[in-house]
Amino acid sequence: MTTIAVIGLGTMGLGIAQTYAAAGFSVLATDAVVAARDSALTRLRDTLAPRVAAGKLSEADLGALIARITVVSGPEAMAAADLTIEAVVEKIEVKRALFAALEAVVAPDAVLATNTSSLSVAAMTEGLAHPERMLGLHFFNPAPVMKLVELVAQPATSEAALARARRLTETAGKTVIACPDRPGFIVNRCARPFYGEALAMLEEGRSASEIDAAMLAAGYRLGPFALIDLIGADINLAATEGLAAAMGNHPRYHVFEALRRQVASGDLGRKTGRGFLHPDRPGPAPADAGAITARIEAALVNEAAWLLSEGGTTREGIDTALKLGLNFPRGPFEVGGTPRATLAALAAAAPPHLRGRYDPAPGLESL
Ligand code: NAI
Repeated sequence: MTTIAVIGLGTMGLGIAQTYAAAGFSVLATDAVVAARDSALTRLRDTLAPRVAAGKLSEADLGALIARITVVSGPEAMAAADLTIEAVVEKIEVKRALFAALEAVVAPDAVLATNTSSLSVAAMTEGLAHPERMLGLHFFNPAPVMKLVELVAQPATSEAALARARRLTETAGKTVIACPDRPGFIVNRCARPFYGEALAMLEEGRSASEIDAAMLAAGYRLGPFALIDLIGADINLAATEGLAAAMGNHPRYHVFEALRRQVASGDLGRKTGRGFLHPDRPGPAPADAGAITARIEAALVNEAAWLLSEGGTTREGIDTALKLGLNFPRGPFEVGGTPRATLAALAAAAPPHLRGRYDPAPGLESL
């Protein structure tokens, strides 16, 4: 029997535990907070109750799923784990201490995985006796629903550890995409221009409604502003600032004032009842909708090409990740057109501090 251990039973950890339990794995789960441990299975039952009510999950299957999860006191009770996944607070010292505790009890070939969104996976190996079994398994929220998992290798990760993490996670129904241990991995990094170019155009005088309408007309399920409103402008700002800092404040990750002002206004999106657009819907697409789309997509293609040039992933991997992670209708390498010409025109029109945003990635010529 393969055993998966999940540490941290908040939003992500409980969803990850559910994901593997639903696939038939035996799951050991824990949290540092007693109340989180005690309430975990009740919370899971409550989450799944609507599916039972809708006839999509039988009471028997729900009972069997929950019975496969054992809540334990802490990492010391996780010796049986073949794969451990942490989803605790996003603090490197906390995660390092946890992996040290896990390493003391699990088998030598047990895989240690982190669900971090923004920390370096390599940095988490510090102090480990077996850094070759440390990797990232980055799930998306809500974990049981979102198909994509980014599989992050750090320089010491072994092929055996990667293969085991991939196999178990694919068995749990996920699409696993390999990606390098770079800030933002694939999705959180390649998404930046989707918001960034929209915010640039907003600062240039276009309306959020026009920009979103243009992207909807091009097949996107949500425009950039509707997506910020859904996620929360504060969360988007934190992610943008984090990536900007991690990438040496390169202009491709510029933090636009329009986003800072929105956060300062307190209108963060759906959760506060008002955002860039919310509760309104975008109006009709403007006459030059094609130019808006071409600009955003050229920047998306360029960011994807920069990431590709850094190694550790593939065109197909990036395309799949953005389609599954952000619901994009096409991946950046499926866009076509002439991104280089669009980028050159954008660079010529940009203020000096933003000109470097549009430097073409190596290899863009051949796309
Ligand atoms: P959360 O705050 O909902 O849950 C974290 C849980 O970890 C809490 O129940 C807390 O009591 C527990 N915890 C903290 N320190 C612990 C320790 N030393 N040992 C055991 N349990 C401990 O956080 P959330 O949103 O679930 O995030 C967890 C991790 O997943 C973070 O690294 C985050 O960056 C990452 N992540 C979050 C996503 C999201 O959309 N919320 C998406 C993908 C990754």
